[in-house]
Amino acid sequence: MSRPTLAVILAAGEGTRMKSSLPKVLHPIAGRPMLTHVLASVREAGVTQAAVVVGPGREDVAKVAQTELPGCAVFTQVERKGTAHAVLAARQALTESKDVIVLFADTPLMRPESIEMLKGALADGASIAVLGFHAADPTGYGRLIVEDGVLTAIVEEKDATSAQKAVGFCNGGLMALSGEHGLALLEAIGNDNAKGEYYLTDAAAIAHQRGLKTVALSIAEEEVQGVNDRAQLAAAEAVMQSRLRAAALREGVTMIAPETVFLSHDTRIGNDVVIEPNCWFGPGVTIESGAVIHAFSHLEGASVGAGTSVGPFARLRPGARLAEEVKVGNFVEVKAASVEKGAKISHLSYIGDARVGAEANIGAGTITCNYDGYLKHRTDIGAGVFVGSNSALVAPVTIGDNANIGAGSVITRDVPADALAVARGRQVAIGGWARTYRARKKEEKAAKGRG
Ligand code: UD1
Ligand code: MG
Repeated sequence: MSRPTLAVILAAGEGTRMKSSLPKVLHPIAGRPMLTHVLASVREAGVTQAAVVVGPGREDVAKVAQTELPGCAVFTQVERKGTAHAVLAARQALTESKDVIVLFADTPLMRPESIEMLKGALADGASIAVLGFHAADPTGYGRLIVEDGVLTAIVEEKDATSAQKAVGFCNGGLMALSGEHGLALLEAIGNDNAKGEYYLTDAAAIAHQRGLKTVALSIAEEEVQGVNDRAQLAAAEAVMQSRLRAAALREGVTMIAPETVFLSHDTRIGNDVVIEPNCWFGPGVTIESGAVIHAFSHLEGASVGAGTSVGPFARLRPGARLAEEVKVGNFVEVKAASVEKGAKISHLSYIGDARVGAEANIGAGTITCNYDGYLKHRTDIGAGVFVGSNSALVAPVTIGDNANIGAGSVITRDVPADALAVARGRQVAIGGWARTYRARKKEEKAAKGRG
């Protein structure tokens, strides 16, 4: 049986380099906050208890944490005095019966497997376990000092000798501390160093000096990549996107140019779906098997049924639910609407707050006029309805099954099933009018020239 573990997530960073009104850890990657990614990895690693340490007045951060992990405890670090000080802000949650894993909320690429590796090291008797990586450029990182396979200390860059700075094995930031010794180690940490901070990393040397087992495990640099500014945010996004694309490809999705397709953390795509280049998937999208998403489409909060075709240049907004074998073509926007099996909206339409019945055909340029400037209203289009091009359906309005709407109509009243509704000026043709008109105008012009 695995030991009870508490994850302590440090989210009290100032994040000033983001130059943002949004707290750094709430900046999204693949459609959800960085903090949420970390909490999700914690949960996926089977750690059910968590404490999040936030800066003063950060109810917004606390709320996001409690949404992802209901029941997680939130603590405030009033003054920023270092990573060990931040962990001790959660002191009430630290007990000898629980192991502790410390994570940083601005390190969103951490995989659950790596958290499990740390848990495993504690289960094997370590008092302290950290994740190290071989840095392409070690500048700024704490160096892991390993002698004969034993982690003897972690030295922060600012406190390192030049020999220590030459060490390329760096601290990824995550640390696991055994319940038995963790609290005592944290409390033994002082602040006699270059930054005058209480460094969490000092726990390693203290443990080693006390004869406790300390371990440094090795992981890929990518996972411990931190985010301090917008460039690093974009770099983390790129890593997350390549993971999501690789997972989709593995599951049998065809992407002609995967590097141009942007997915969300929760995008669900069935096998044999084809996604053409330059598509964007916001949160909450599900695509069933065999659907095709043509180039330059933008989807968010939408579901696409099996064998359905979307785009090119389509926009599916939240609440768009397309059934099987539907066609939504170019320059069509669908919002809060269900489009039933086999219906076609092939070109240049807006369908919002509506139902489009099975096998209905919505002509080019059809608009559901769902908004009166104050309230939204529904349009209900029955099965088998044929809507002629360039029609405006002024909601609330119901079109009965198999009705026909003449092109260019402005429909303001319900249309019974099987009826034809035409709502436009009646066409008149005046015989010979154009010929007479031309003759008169030519004469007028000639008279003007003479005068
Ligand atoms: C830390 C590690 C370093 C490691 C690096 C990896 C320490 C002392 N150093 O350095 O060994 O190589 O991460 O990226 O741990 N925080 C608080 N309250 C504080 C101080 C920090 O909540 O008082 C949070 C920050 O918001 C951040 C995390 O702790 O999420 C790490 O702090 P940071 O100042 O970025 O540490 P580094 O200097 O990067
Ligand atoms: Mg940092």
